Amino acid sequence: LVTGLTTEAPLLNQYRGGRDAAGNPAAPARQPVWFMRQAGRSLPEYRKLREGTTMLDSCLNPEMASEITLQPVRRHDVDAAIFFSDIVIPLRLAGVDVEIKPGVGPVLGSPVRTLEDVRALPELDEAAFAPIVEAVELTTSGLKDMAAEADRDWVTPLIGFAGAPFTLAAYMVEGKPSKEHLAVRTMMKANTETWNELAAWAARASGAFMRAQVMAGASAAQLFDSWAGSLSRADYLEYVAPFSQAALSHVADLGVPVIHFGTGTSQILDVMRAVVEFARIAPQEPVESGPSVLQAMGEALAAKEEGRTAHDPASLTTYPVLGVDYRMNLREAADQLGAGTNGRRTPLQGNIDPAMLFADAETLHQHVQAVLADGASAGGHVVNLGHGVPPETNPEVLTRVVEQIHSVETHPGQD
Ligand code: CP3
Repeated sequence: LVTGLTTEAPLLNQYRGGRDAAGNPAAPARQPVWFMRQAGRSLPEYRKLREGTTMLDSCLNPEMASEITLQPVRRHDVDAAIFFSDIVIPLRLAGVDVEIKPGVGPVLGSPVRTLEDVRALPELDEAAFAPIVEAVELTTSGLKDMAAEADRDWVTPLIGFAGAPFTLAAYMVEGKPSKEHLAVRTMMKANTETWNELAAWAARASGAFMRAQVMAGASAAQLFDSWAGSLSRADYLEYVAPFSQAALSHVADLGVPVIHFGTGTSQILDVMRAVVEFARIAPQEPVESGPSVLQAMGEALAAKEEGRTAHDPASLTTYPVLGVDYRMNLREAADQLGAGTNGRRTPLQGNIDPAMLFADAETLHQHVQAVLADGASAGGHVVNLGHGVPPETNPEVLTRVVEQIHSVETHPGQD
């Protein structure tokens, strides 16, 4: 903590379920909001800075990555900075031939398809994350300076992130962005051994990437499983959940809130929460696709309730948060989820429909009010978009949305 600060960051209050640092119900100083992809092409200052530098090179330039991270905080007064990087950065740092093609997304020189391909993937050592660590340190120091200049009594938190093993592996196996993720879904079932080794590799790479950011000063971590919604509940449970747990086990001992986000996830929302709650007790190694992650979790919970020592309650991740996209109403999500293993409703993040950013001011205003009203039924609410800021968004519209959200009355989260 920085001396002289009297208030905790509104964002962290909501991620803790509308509690103060001591765990008592408390309303945040203001309703927190940030936007996925708040840094990026919607901002002219970003486009100017990025001129002549490729996406991944800009992520690995600490001064540039830090400045780009701070740009939207300065401009919009959002309540979090999201570290400017990409889910494929661990691949690049491991020496995998990967580029981000403008307007397309991640493209690999050669897709990872066979067991030999997977076994040829280089392991990442901690030293490889040096440019990430430096960028995070520059950013948190920049955020402290901004708080001092604004004479604010909290420092805007920095959120670190990584891609979940499935979403990362989807790019690795397909070799490029895809809609149906056919190749990776085929691999899961037809070549399960190959899938298991690939997903375990991705869990280590993403876990180490997230851990490096939190160790360097990030206050929360978001695991993006953007494409998890393309899986059935049964497949998610068997082939994906254990590996996401393994990735999160790299940060579960660090005491930071963990946000788990995907799109189209109404069929797996409860499992996504369990993945976070049980990240610490999931073995980091070896990871095998399991019969049923929920069954294993059920057994762990029963052992805990019966006072057996298998799993210490304190070993459960303290602050699970779920990111919800615009396809599901936040009130429905909160009701469907009910109380978590900590006995409280889970804080939710979301879910303004990005399409509404292009609507007339009144339609957008009403939509944001509805999101706020629905979010009030969760155990804490951090406003966000249902997915990333579209590049063609008028940034002034985002600034107005932040002002609207900051003007509402705040309250503690629901139990
Ligand atoms: O502001 C932020 O949200 C932080 C930075 C961030 C980026 N990528 C920067 C970026 C974050 C959190 C990501 C995560 C990411 N990357 C995800 C998960 C989130 C999601 O959107 O579902 C995924 C799937 C990727 C892979 C990826 N990288 C895609 C699909 C694309 C888009 C391609 C395009 O041009 O539309 C990228 C490129 C990318 N990552 C850009 C940015 C700012 C655009 C690069 C540019 O400026 O040209």
